Amino acid sequence: MNVLGISAHYHDSAAALVADGVPVCAVQEERLSRNKHDAAFPMRAIEWCLNHAGLDPEDLDAVVFYERSLLKFERILTCALRTFPHSWRSFPNAMKSSLGEKMWVRGIISSYLGIPRNKILFTGHHEAHAAAAFLTAPTRRAAIFTADGVGEWATLTVGHGERRSDGGTAITLLREIRFPHSLGMLYSTFTAYLGFSVNEDEYKVMGLAAYGRPTMADRVRKLIRRTPDGAFVLDMDYFEYQTTAARSYSSRFVDLFGPPRHSYEPIDLETADGRRYADCAASVQRVLEDTLVDMTRALHQETGLPDLCLGGGVALNSVANARILAESGFERVFVPSAPGDAGCALGAALYADRMYLGNPDRDVPDHPFWGPAVDAQELARAAREDGQAVEELDERALVERIADELAAGRIVGWMDGASEFGPRALGHRSILAAPHSTEMRDRLNRDIKYREEFRPFAPVTPIETADRYFELPPGGARLARFMSGVFPVRPEWRSRLAAVTHVDGSARVQTLEREMAPRLHALLEAYGRRSGIPVLLNTSFNVAGEPIVNRALEAYSTFRRCGIDALVAGPTLVTKPVASPALVQAV
Ligand SMILES: [Fe+2]
Repeated sequence: MNVLGISAHYHDSAAALVADGVPVCAVQEERLSRNKHDAAFPMRAIEWCLNHAGLDPEDLDAVVFYERSLLKFERILTCALRTFPHSWRSFPNAMKSSLGEKMWVRGIISSYLGIPRNKILFTGHHEAHAAAAFLTAPTRRAAIFTADGVGEWATLTVGHGERRSDGGTAITLLREIRFPHSLGMLYSTFTAYLGFSVNEDEYKVMGLAAYGRPTMADRVRKLIRRTPDGAFVLDMDYFEYQTTAARSYSSRFVDLFGPPRHSYEPIDLETADGRRYADCAASVQRVLEDTLVDMTRALHQETGLPDLCLGGGVALNSVANARILAESGFERVFVPSAPGDAGCALGAALYADRMYLGNPDRDVPDHPFWGPAVDAQELARAAREDGQAVEELDERALVERIADELAAGRIVGWMDGASEFGPRALGHRSILAAPHSTEMRDRLNRDIKYREEFRPFAPVTPIETADRYFELPPGGARLARFMSGVFPVRPEWRSRLAAVTHVDGSARVQTLEREMAPRLHALLEAYGRRSGIPVLLNTSFNVAGEPIVNRALEAYSTFRRCGIDALVAGPTLVTKPVASPALVQAV
């Protein structure tokens, strides 16, 4: 039975295909359209999924959309009417986007794919988040906690899931918190206030938080009040997102926290305003963490289960995830590689397969590599036509050669097999570099990523040796499998892991099992033989403003435009002739 899942029309559209209960492929539209955070109906992603699986649209047994559009429309309409006449300016916009596409999803899917309307199914937005988190995790029973900005009405749900020995599956969402009360919107409001892009730059707030102190946490708590039933309400006097798309915070918010930062204003921690922004970020981060820890602790007590599956965009907050693991009482915390809305494409397909179509439970392979595979021949062709030196090496020679390059301080674009599903590069579309010096971090920021200094780079290390360099609590390695937790770098290693150690001594480490990405695992070991430290800096293979590279051609174009010294796809190696200064000698 073939089930296609689709998420679209908000941000990060995606498609995913589940055949006989197991994912076959999944990809975000942005990787194919090259339009970052592409929210369009994911026609390219759908076409790629069908081609990859050798299917025609009529071979699909069901197409599942990740939310109930009519409910979402009801929420937009209700909120607009409730705040009339204040909302009259936002109403036409909301109407246009909803009426234009969101509401008529069944017709759009039917006409695009030419399949009968009765094959088109819908899940709740948070049901899709819950399924993406629970049904992809290697656990049979778990508590489920989802939190995001908003779906239809729900912004947060708690519940539990069970995969029974008779093949049946149950996902039970017990309670929900509804719009406008939303942890995601609270955090996004601060994202906007701090001059960053909403739904895109929330991780910048998290990175900036490490530079500040939560001196304004009490002020943030004025915005969010816990209720006796364990939920929370936001004081909507401080917000405007419920009434207008133009601004998310109110003048009262500005009275409380001071003037907002303009997006073009540099963050200078030597100035009072710069420190205020950092303190503001630290304060909302603290309140978010405290709220999540408190709510997940209550869920642990309620369910008595050892495992927790986290879903929704809030689960991208890897600092909060680590605190949940440490303080909630859950022994294991699972976060999928794509906890945000893109992952809902896979979640919706799995949910419908198990819950609507009644198909038996199946184990989902525990890796994030569901996207298009890289074509090494394409790289070789492009580089030769461009007059660049191309080498073809066998596996062992290639790994040893790249380890040499990295040990000599060169920066490597690394493509291996199928691309990751989700926002993080986990070893198949990565830029790799020596992790030892701040010079390397600054060089990457300056020559390749063009990004703010306060954003840390992440390390990757074999799971076997991770404990030596990082303070991983029980369950930490699992959270670090898809880079979903931030943990302390052991103090004695911080100076030698300076490029990947954040200002507060932490790192968003990926702990790599050989089976998940054997080639990168071998490279880490080879690099460890040279430097004494089997750790590499691993950042997503893209430059600022562009999606992560998908095809070899895009990687080659990026390689030619920025400071990457060597590029690998399959057996193919392309290097730039000019050597970069060695940065590893000090190790
Ligand atoms: Fe969501």
